[in-house]
Amino acid sequence: MLKLFLNISSLITVDTLGAGYLSGNEMNCINEIKNGAIYFSDKILWYGSTYQARILLSNNKITPEIIYDKKGCTVLPGFVDSHTHIVFAGDRSEEFGSRLRGATYQEIAESGGGILTTVKATRDASVDELAQNGIRLALSAMSYGTTSIEIKSGYSLTTDGEIKQLEAISKMKKLLPLHISATFLGAHDFPIEFSDKRDEYVDLLCQEMIPKVKGLNLAEFCDIFIDDGYYTYQQGEKILSTAKDIGFKLKVHADELSDQSAALLAGKLNAQSADHLLFVNENSINELKKSNTVACLLPGTAYFIRMPYANARKLIDNGLTVALATDTNPGSCFTENMQMILSLAVINMKMTAEEAIAAATINGAKALDIQDTKGSIENGKDADFIVLNTPSYIDMFYHFGINHVEQVWINGNQILIDNFMGNKNDL
Ligand code: NIG
Ligand code: FE
Repeated sequence: MLKLFLNISSLITVDTLGAGYLSGNEMNCINEIKNGAIYFSDKILWYGSTYQARILLSNNKITPEIIYDKKGCTVLPGFVDSHTHIVFAGDRSEEFGSRLRGATYQEIAESGGGILTTVKATRDASVDELAQNGIRLALSAMSYGTTSIEIKSGYSLTTDGEIKQLEAISKMKKLLPLHISATFLGAHDFPIEFSDKRDEYVDLLCQEMIPKVKGLNLAEFCDIFIDDGYYTYQQGEKILSTAKDIGFKLKVHADELSDQSAALLAGKLNAQSADHLLFVNENSINELKKSNTVACLLPGTAYFIRMPYANARKLIDNGLTVALATDTNPGSCFTENMQMILSLAVINMKMTAEEAIAAATINGAKALDIQDTKGSIENGKDADFIVLNTPSYIDMFYHFGINHVEQVWINGNQILIDNFMGNKNDL
């Protein structure tokens, strides 16, 4: 079906003229067309001004079957949330209560809680239960404007358990309209059975888990949590090199709680993204500059676990390709709302509104290697966009803490979130 949006008060295309990302200063160039128009089927066929669209209409150069009047609205590419952990079971609200009384994220982990609490509950859950929980969170994310999402495993830490989580993600792909990228995160923590023989778990990852997940084609990326108390740089090098050799694209939870030069490793291995970067050092930044690795920032995590924010200004001023994502997970950041993340980015990381939009759209797509089809409004790309109920994109930042997303369009269809709730209940 051929469709036309006319009279869009503010059309933000984030068109990169085919480059597929915006780095450094370029992140301010998000291309705003006042009184814009988009002509689309499942793909974007043309965009421009309403004036140009009217000329094309009168010459029969475009022949829409439906015309929508978008006066008073802003249209943006849908958000690409390139880092989440939404497939899990159980709940850590009690742990959050302790944190509010003063315990730190690391203290909770050291006393046997944290990720391992979620691991216990996830090991006991079925594929369908995990998919149900994931669908509930993905639908909520969509209602705040997410049209593509990455989901990691990492809450089972056994071969079969990690495969179970990845199967839940595959199920979600069949039941939901948004794009889903799957990531194997068997190296999220060390399972309790291996607490005093960590290198044996590293061997299990390299010799059994990584090859098996690849053989089943359940994930495109392999990720690892390199940090104090978790994986070391050397273990990370071994795991990531094994994964790379076997054909995985790489992601790294890098320098989140302390500086481990994890981003340096990500840069050296040309990972798709290095994520968090709260404590990234100068050398690592220089290595990232030489690579194609996206610097993915997760300000919701710094906010939620009360840590200093990543130095977004420095990363952007160094010319890096910076993305923004939620990190939705039950421990360190429990929100699936990308508008909240953008608000934190502009206020607490001093990004401009334009940089935040570029980071949450095209650069998120680059972090998932889907920039050829997602992340911007460009001719030939998938018709994924969000309609805000305000004539200016600045309002999304100015009037904060509320949901500005009025409509979500994916592959050219308006998504009525409630229609997909059934898919969760039918499982
Ligand atoms: O990105 N850093 C490791 N993983 C998550 C936290 C997971 C959890 O606490 O359950 C993160 O912060
Ligand atoms: Fe994470």
